[in-house]
Amino acid sequence: MTQTIPDTKTLFSSVALGPYTLNNRIVMPPLTRSRSTQPDNIPNDLMASYYAQRASAGFMVTEGTQIEPRGQGYAWTPGIHSSAQIEGWKKSHASST
Ligand SMILES: Cc1cc2nc3c(=O)[nH]c(=O)nc-3n(C[C@H](O)[C@H](O)[C@H](O)COP(=O)(O)O)c2cc1C
Repeated sequence: MTQTIPDTKTLFSSVALGPYTLNNRIVMPPLTRSRSTQPDNIPNDLMASYYAQRASAGFMVTEGTQIEPRGQGYAWTPGIHSSAQIEGWKKSHASST
């Protein structure tokens, strides 16, 4: 029996995404982790570690993030509408770039 080995050259080739050039075509989709610090749904060091651990794989879409309190769909999801939340997100950005 012959087995066909998929060609992975395309997967690992760079691609343009708007103004960005991605190293490969691997994308991590948004995954709800509900790990923000309570109260006030503030992105934290645990989240920064989570994104840092995965950053080398490829392009990451962060978890669903409420842009105002009424936009929150699940408990403990991080927001991005208060100063503390914005500062918290900077930790994930810094850890994964
Ligand atoms: C805001 C948001 C949060 C999500 N959270 C999860 C999650 O916690 N777990 C999960 O399996 N998929 C989650 N998804 C769906 C995944 O991001 C992804 O789209 C899906 O797993 C891909 O499935 P598919 O390959 O069948 O399209 C989320 C999607 C969005 C938009």
